[in-house]
Amino acid sequence: MKTHEPVYYGEYLNLNKLLDCQHPKSKDHGNEAHDETLFILVHQVYELWFKQILHELKSIVTLFSGKTVDEKDLSKVVARLERITKIQALLVDQLGVMETMTPMDFLEFRDLLVPASGFQSVQFREVEVLMGLKTNNRKAVDREYFLGRLNDEDKARIIEIEKSPSLLELTQAWLERIPFTKIEGFNFWDEYEKEIDKMLDYDEKIIHQNQASLDSRAMAMQIENLNATRETFSSLLNEQKHNDLIKLGRRSLSRTATMNALFILLYREEPILHLPYKFLTALMDIDELFTTWRYRHALMAQRMLGTKIGTGGSSGHHYLKMAAENNRVYNDLFNLSTFLLPSSKLPKLPNEVKIKLGYHFNE
Ligand code: HEM
Repeated sequence: MKTHEPVYYGEYLNLNKLLDCQHPKSKDHGNEAHDETLFILVHQVYELWFKQILHELKSIVTLFSGKTVDEKDLSKVVARLERITKIQALLVDQLGVMETMTPMDFLEFRDLLVPASGFQSVQFREVEVLMGLKTNNRKAVDREYFLGRLNDEDKARIIEIEKSPSLLELTQAWLERIPFTKIEGFNFWDEYEKEIDKMLDYDEKIIHQNQASLDSRAMAMQIENLNATRETFSSLLNEQKHNDLIKLGRRSLSRTATMNALFILLYREEPILHLPYKFLTALMDIDELFTTWRYRHALMAQRMLGTKIGTGGSSGHHYLKMAAENNRVYNDLFNLSTFLLPSSKLPKLPNEVKIKLGYHFNE
């Protein structure tokens, strides 16, 4: 290895710069509020972690942008997504440090910050966009705040990033490419539908068998629930119904992608599907942790502000609580559980497919 100049800890980490970035506004105004330093530092630490999350996400998007995704790359992607989840756990936990500041201590400097707000965290927006929350995927109530509080330069940066494919879009394309469900003389989805019909017919039989113990209203309700379940299944199996739900904003992944994701979940124990299963699980973990952070942050905002509006002009706690509900990126993956079957009821796969799904070594 080539020799190099001795490295000095503080220089390597650029600490002079890093530790000279905390300037409380209250100090400038001649009456320093003790807790403002904590407020600044906590936000800065978040931004540093957002930087690391973006570093991981960008590399994942690059690995997923080719025509195919190599198996080795997929394990790298899963490892990086899992790293993001570890960081997110810290991000949730860190709110507890912020909450050691009391609402009255916050009032000592809060008004000096208006109209700055978390709405202006460009890196947070970048993470959202890279994951798949672009302007068009957002609810109308969110759109105004999404880019509306950014300066022109930051807005232009986000609009530019919106032009490239997000992880949600790339995941969809990858799922659509997954083979295995259709080969000559075998269509997995016909077999799946038969199993579902059997299951639902059996449920209907049970309802009729229990007729004696049910009054007519209870009976009608059970049949109605069963028909709703039939409708849910047909909304997946029928292309038109699935596309209608996409138009209504109730599903986001294409039908082929959704069905292939379901296939991965159903047959996740097959060796070739194990890593894809871990990938989908990691996406759900990230979505869940983001949502957890949003709820936790909304609660903190209530604790600090009560029902007051935010410095960015939203309704504060109320808005943030709604945003947690409205900004789920991989909701479709969570909803796949609706369509699962017990392993014992899974359609048998033809040998030709089984061989493709396993690892077979020849002497
Ligand atoms: C005293 C502590 C905090 C309070 C009271 C608070 C309050 C709020 C409020 C009310 C909003 C809604 C926008 C507005 O009207 O201003 C908001 C948005 C936001 N805050 Fe905080 N916040 C706090 C700390 C933090 C911290 C430590 C972070 C970490 C980066 C953060 C990140 C964000 C982000 C990213 C948004 C935009 C969320 C979205 O658009 O869905 N906040 N915050």
